[in-house]
Amino acid sequence: MKTVCFLFFCAFSTVGVAQTWSGEVAQIFYNKCTSCHHAGGIAPFSLTTYQESSPMSASIYAAISPGAAHQMPPWPPDNNYQQYLHDRALTAAEKTTLLNWLNNGFPEGNSTQTPPPPVYNAGSVLGAGDLMVKMPNYISNASIQSDDYVCFSVPTNLTETRIIKAVEVIPGNMEIVHHALVYIDHNGVESTNTSGLCSSPSSASTKLLSAYVPGAAPLIFPSAAPLKLGVDIGPGSNIYFAMHYPNGSSGMLDSTKVILHFYPPGTTGIRQVSADPIIADYNFNLPANQVTTLTAQYPNNGGVPIAVSALSVMPHMHLLGQSIKSYALAPNNLDTLKHINIPNWDFHWQGFYTFSHLQKIPAGYKIKGEAVFDNTSNNPFNPNTPPQNVQFGENTTDEMFIVYYHYLLYQPGDENYNLSELVSASLSEYPGINAAGVKIYPNPLNDGNLTLEFNEPLTDGAKIYIYNTQGKLVKDLSAEAGNNVSKISWNGENNEFVPSPPGLYHISINQNGRFYSVKLIKQ
Ligand code: HEC
Repeated sequence: MKTVCFLFFCAFSTVGVAQTWSGEVAQIFYNKCTSCHHAGGIAPFSLTTYQESSPMSASIYAAISPGAAHQMPPWPPDNNYQQYLHDRALTAAEKTTLLNWLNNGFPEGNSTQTPPPPVYNAGSVLGAGDLMVKMPNYISNASIQSDDYVCFSVPTNLTETRIIKAVEVIPGNMEIVHHALVYIDHNGVESTNTSGLCSSPSSASTKLLSAYVPGAAPLIFPSAAPLKLGVDIGPGSNIYFAMHYPNGSSGMLDSTKVILHFYPPGTTGIRQVSADPIIADYNFNLPANQVTTLTAQYPNNGGVPIAVSALSVMPHMHLLGQSIKSYALAPNNLDTLKHINIPNWDFHWQGFYTFSHLQKIPAGYKIKGEAVFDNTSNNPFNPNTPPQNVQFGENTTDEMFIVYYHYLLYQPGDENYNLSELVSASLSEYPGINAAGVKIYPNPLNDGNLTLEFNEPLTDGAKIYIYNTQGKLVKDLSAEAGNNVSKISWNGENNEFVPSPPGLYHISINQNGRFYSVKLIKQ
């Protein structure tokens, strides 16, 4: 009898319960797919419900299997080379669950148990900032064959230097903004270019600040002791938007904006983050019908004069790019510090990758980059048929070999900071997230517990409710609010003890008749 039960239990646990849409699969989709695959999102179809996902099973299987033409979720960096915040890739366990579910005929399970899908709203997460800069209304000129790449230069009208602590790029039309690169044109030298081929600014003095791709989190620097990071933006500067509208977006309107959050004037102890194309080659030729490898290094001779801490990295090539990598190398060539490796470059999915920990580059080390370009007809993205000689240039049909870094001067201990924790701790400074009276962390919440820390100890009878964006009560935490408690925690489960899905939540508090609320992002 025992054996039977044991076998039954085994069979039950490996092929049954876990691998149903309602059991485990929906949650993985909410975590890793629906940020793009929702109605009105950038992906061509929604995957938020069983009814939407099950008919797509064959193509989902192909898209998450190795070697897929459009590998899903799009996450180009090699995670074995280096780790980053905001990793979009499926974990090995998630992938196994999805493949098993698909192999077993993608059962739905008990639909009443399906966790509710996340709510997507096109608005700002961080709330109103100190400066909003919006590109003019633009109607996409993409055609069925080709995407539309356009650049806009918009004045900031700043009259004094301010220090940026966060940047949120908000697409005017989530359905058609495939990516947006946001630069600071410090000298006001760039101009708007709607030729359809503009991918990058013309001057090296125009510094990349942030990049938007669908599903990306806002750029938020740690902004509280022990680590305050920021970027200066001076009077006379422009914001330069490099926009990508994919084919099929023709005739649709966009007006993307960027919201900048500044440190209050006079804030001390801010460490300046620089953004520079550390690895760059502005003078190369890629002969037609050849695969060419380019290498570049910084500095040209010797190593970096002083130690720096790298915060994030963003490789940039155009359509002929095949792979790109950058790393730092010790003077004796015996120590390699790995920064990024993109084995299958995809022009359509680029952005800044923020390291989980600051990466120290010691004085004397050089920074090296290696890029491979496929200018043959084997490259399906080659813009020329037959292939043509291609040089450096800002048009999509020209090429680039650049690796941007966000970096700062090194201080001892930098490599020990946990950037995820520090960014979470800074979040309560933002009006969209902030609430008088309570600090919540970590925010965004991944797995694990949310801590709510109250400025004044809670009184008996205080009410603490967690709502989803549809106004549905997810969890009543009032029972935790006994006398004089100043810290309570939430394990992410709803009133039915089921983990609540990713998305935006409102935590509403009534303490002694004083009402306030705070926004939580659950990932
Ligand atoms: C960051 C945005 C994003 C995320 C996250 C994402 N997708 Fe996609 N997906 C897209 C876009 C955009 C396309 C259209 C093709 C393209 O541009 O690559 C697409 C296409 C697809 C396709 C069609 C593939 C093909 O060959 O055209 C499937 C299937 C798919 N996605 C499944 C998924 C699944 C399953 C997940 C989660 C495990 C996921 N996607 C996560 C953006 C995303």
